[in-house]
Amino acid sequence: MILILLGAPGAGKGTQAQRLEDAHGLIQLSTGDMLRAAVKAETEVGLKAKEVMNKGQLVSDDIMVGIISERLDQSDCKNGVILDGFPRTEAQAEALDQLLNDKGLSLNAVIEMKTDDAVLVERITGRYTCAKCGAGYHDSFLKPAVEGVCDKCGGTEFTRRSDDKAETVKSRLEAYHNQTAPLLPYYKDKGILKQVDGMAEIDEVTHQIEAVIKQI
Ligand code: AP5
Ligand code: MG
Repeated sequence: MILILLGAPGAGKGTQAQRLEDAHGLIQLSTGDMLRAAVKAETEVGLKAKEVMNKGQLVSDDIMVGIISERLDQSDCKNGVILDGFPRTEAQAEALDQLLNDKGLSLNAVIEMKTDDAVLVERITGRYTCAKCGAGYHDSFLKPAVEGVCDKCGGTEFTRRSDDKAETVKSRLEAYHNQTAPLLPYYKDKGILKQVDGMAEIDEVTHQIEAVIKQI
């Protein structure tokens, strides 16, 4: 199964992708997480991406398509993947179609997580992540059962993203509306676009995504 979660920054793509990984044995392919790992490791891609990400802009299509193509070839992806944050431009969407076609694969569904921009700044500025296993949390909306201890791995150190500042979120939202939202009609025309209410509570969003998966 190959799913795309499509939504604005803070729509809940990462939160839901982690749940789908656990529930369906799929692999979350978050291009944002891959880029952050490259920035941390100071690889060539990381050095190119760092400044672009901190400005809230998009990294070049060539780099992104290369990253995804390589990752899809790894053996853990053979049971299926959830694309989280890719594609983000029409050029990436077209390249993905070509890539999947070449690999004899196809997209099962593109799930739009619909949100109002007004809630996203609060979601993003309150977000934090377990430094050890990457599980995501929120200051108000998703706290660990025991404060300061990761539910998944027991880790006690957490990090916040350097692009999660209110001023950067504005540029990220602009990039979403100008460059990524045009993918909605692109996938609608192919008959694979589904929608869920990204404004609902986290469990309800999961429930709506599960209902979409059942129909596949
Ligand atoms: P990326 O890491 O993909 O960031 P993003 O798209 O801006 O999305 P986020 O990760 O911020 O949000 P999310 O939807 O995953 O929300 P989450 O589940 O965490 O990309 C970062 C940067 O990398 C880009 O700006 C770009 O520079 C570059 N990049 C990446 N991919 C690229 C590509 N393909 N092409 C070019 N450049 C690329 O939820 C947010 C918070 O809200 C969490 O704390 C969560 O607990 C909480 N929450 C989630 N759902 C709910 C809910 N329903 N109700 C209440 N709270 C909720
Ligand atoms: Mg994310």
